[in-house]
Amino acid sequence: MKKLFLAAIAAVAMGTSAYADTIKVGVIGPFSGPFALQGKNFKAGIDAYMAVNGNTVGSDTVEIVYRDVPQADPAQSKALAQELIVKEKVQYLAGFYFTPDAMAVTPILKQGNVPMVIMNAATSAIVTKSPLVVRTSFTTWQTSTPIAKVAFDAGVKKVISVVSDYGPGIDAENAFKAGFEKAGGQVVEAIRMPLATNDFSPIMQRIKDSGAEGVFAFLPSGPTTLGFVKAYNDNGLKAAGIKFFAPGDLTQESDLPALGDAALGIQTTFHYAVSHDSPENKAFVEAATKAIGNRAELSFPSVSAYDGMHVIYKMIEATGGKQDAEKAVDAVKGLAWTSPRGPVSIDPESRHITQNIYLREVVKADDGTYINKEVQTFEKQGDPGLAAVK
Ligand code: PHB
Repeated sequence: MKKLFLAAIAAVAMGTSAYADTIKVGVIGPFSGPFALQGKNFKAGIDAYMAVNGNTVGSDTVEIVYRDVPQADPAQSKALAQELIVKEKVQYLAGFYFTPDAMAVTPILKQGNVPMVIMNAATSAIVTKSPLVVRTSFTTWQTSTPIAKVAFDAGVKKVISVVSDYGPGIDAENAFKAGFEKAGGQVVEAIRMPLATNDFSPIMQRIKDSGAEGVFAFLPSGPTTLGFVKAYNDNGLKAAGIKFFAPGDLTQESDLPALGDAALGIQTTFHYAVSHDSPENKAFVEAATKAIGNRAELSFPSVSAYDGMHVIYKMIEATGGKQDAEKAVDAVKGLAWTSPRGPVSIDPESRHITQNIYLREVVKADDGTYINKEVQTFEKQGDPGLAAVK
């Protein structure tokens, strides 16, 4: 008994507690409104990770505190992050579906002594805004660079690009243009649409009028991407032979049932397909399906959330549960593991995830469901966008 007491005193003196602490992780994302399914996927990935790995790290218990930012809203995101740090005393911030919501929070990380683990926001520059940012999702530079080569190799020489007019859209436009022109193709016109655009008919007309043989598109996954791909079909672009190229945001699995046969054959490049064939993904899909309640709702934010939790657990382990943002982030620089998506690592310099990018094609599986079938792998892709923002 005396020994135990002395050990407890020593542990307190060393700054660790022999008694269990609760470590709070604040997660900001869209949990209501039109993008609620994306937030639901964050939660499914987090729940799946904690179901498989338990809710304790060492003697500490991990507790998730969710905050809802339904649509890109930097002011609301910042206010909620502040509340999470000051009132809830979270040791970690995570989530962040939209780039502006992540960008708004980077300036308060240092003062709050809180690392940020980005589970979606995909603009390259975010990681340069604070040394306390780690990202387990992707960037649109990373996912849009390979599709440019695919488009050129498919015999398409003239493309029109259409993107949402904000960070990840502008990055996607630049990435596609750089890759396509390097291959020998030409981007004949580049359209940037307001983020809130939901009537795509006028855009479809401009695509037709441009004389391009193909269209490259990026919009943030959600109701807008579904609307865009529908408009591409309904306005006769597919029938006219105008080819469609995009990163996988445009064909997320949860949108495929609503697109139906119209989506068949669409090729996209992305870091994750729910159908990825590996034992790690099989286990993940099982746990995430249990968490979300319906396999048809599973989509890519779930895997970045799952891997984000892996990173946070490693950070808690490395700091012994003590709040030390810098030490936590240092501990995961170079961390490598097998994700449900394939082999990944955290680049020690950029703190962004290095991963395979897959070319996928929408097909009907044997069970009648629509899937993104992986047909080619671009191995170990870093973020080409970082060179552009340096
Ligand atoms: C972003 O805002 O960074 C974002 C959102 C949804 C996506 C991709 C990027 O599908």
